[in-house]
Amino acid sequence: MKIYHLAAECYPVAKVGGLADVVGALPKYQNEAGLHASVVLPFYDRKFVQESEFDVVFVASTLLGKKRYEFEIWKERTNKLGFELYLIFIPGLLDRPEIYSYPDEREQFIAFQLAFLDWINWSQQSPDIIHCHDHHVGLIPFLMKHSALYHKRLSKIKTVFTIHNGQYHGAFGYEKFDYLPEVDMRFAGLLDWNGGINPLACAVKCCDKYTTVSPSYLHELTVRSNGLEYLFYIEGAKGQGIINGIDTDVWNPVTDPMIKAPIDALDPEEGKVKNKKALCARFDLDPELPLISFIGRLVVEKGADLLPEAFSRSLRQHAGKVNILMLGAGDQDTADALVELKEWFPDNYRTYVGYNEQLAHQVYAGSDFLLMPSRVEPCGLNQLYSLRYGTVPMVRRTGGLIDTVIDFGEEDGYGICFDQSTADDICYSIDRAVELYQNIDHVDELRQRMMALDYSWTRSAQQYTQLYESLTPII
Ligand code: ADP
Ligand code: GLC
Repeated sequence: MKIYHLAAECYPVAKVGGLADVVGALPKYQNEAGLHASVVLPFYDRKFVQESEFDVVFVASTLLGKKRYEFEIWKERTNKLGFELYLIFIPGLLDRPEIYSYPDEREQFIAFQLAFLDWINWSQQSPDIIHCHDHHVGLIPFLMKHSALYHKRLSKIKTVFTIHNGQYHGAFGYEKFDYLPEVDMRFAGLLDWNGGINPLACAVKCCDKYTTVSPSYLHELTVRSNGLEYLFYIEGAKGQGIINGIDTDVWNPVTDPMIKAPIDALDPEEGKVKNKKALCARFDLDPELPLISFIGRLVVEKGADLLPEAFSRSLRQHAGKVNILMLGAGDQDTADALVELKEWFPDNYRTYVGYNEQLAHQVYAGSDFLLMPSRVEPCGLNQLYSLRYGTVPMVRRTGGLIDTVIDFGEEDGYGICFDQSTADDICYSIDRAVELYQNIDHVDELRQRMMALDYSWTRSAQQYTQLYESLTPII
């Protein structure tokens, strides 16, 4: 079975968040299971691309409105990521270093989708499944079915659309309608939601199946999806929740070259202590105290705006008895407020504002607890990395966090769970963490329990295969 994954991000080519981790791992596991999965990304002028070798396998041009763009399909020569990687290079549009935030982002992603479809169409390919991730590639199922240019060859190919974040829709106004090739106007309404072109809504309506990255998030979208609640309610029968896995080659606490010492799942104490000492030495913190960390984008969905108040209250209440470390980047006001806290708590609080993949590995390995007070968390990978690195996750019960973390007070539990994204609930969970840490044998027992869990991709990749098979019955 031949599958193309299309997305804006893929680790290690271009990463902003968990979307990249998923697109960089799932195809590899699918190939190991005997499928033929490839990834197609926009070209990014970034380290991975500069350091890899490519062959140009297709050259053509595509029309965006009145402007014609030459494009090239670049294929990575060695398949070193465990899958065929294709980049779409469009001089003047897809040749830049950043992934998002250019003023002509809509043009970039529409051109990306058109160039992909032109390539598949003109090179006479017939993949079994086109698997699109998030709104950046949400117009593909519609265009395959309802544009005159592609309908004839592509309308029978099955499409799967995975929602990693239903809060962002990529909507734009009808003044950009001309960027699309000629469409069958009887179906133009499928593009629309609330008077605009809405790629996320359009994908949900036009794909053969959509998935969310956890079962709980599938239900949540019907009550909270930034205006698409009704759509998810009526299209519900087409949806399926499949929890993400993690790439256990990249996130392996025994072989991870980015951390100080290996952590043995059956006897984690020694490895945890060594990693914690190294992390605390780097940040000049006392390794005898419990260490609670936060890693993530500083945005409202992650509850980052709550951290300054919650941290200052807890650090005051547990004066000199707990350390807190924050690694993140995003909203400037939140970052400023988090940095400012250092002056108030010079002995027990540290921040690193920025993106640092290696440090993230060290924080998962060296912390005792990892805090995730998310307001919205479609799956969440941080808690899965924590579980694998023996770090107790402290999570708000939402989305994928509900599906992956059980409170240590419940049967077979190992984490700390709370109900509300509020400073009060965060402070209460920190109280529980500080108290739990006083019984280090209990913490060690929880570590062993969580490190024995299996969140590798194997099971979830199988669920995707079953879903593909349900769409492409053997005749
Ligand atoms: P999201 O995709 O919504 O940001 P996920 O939990 O799915 O959330 O994935 C976040 C990913 O990004 C994880 O791999 C996490 O380690 C990484 N990450 C987030 N912020 C940083 C940062 N500042 N430095 C390094 N890695 C980060
Ligand atoms: C999104 C979600 C996150 C999820 C990730 C990968 O960025 O916010 O919860 O883990 O996608 O699916």
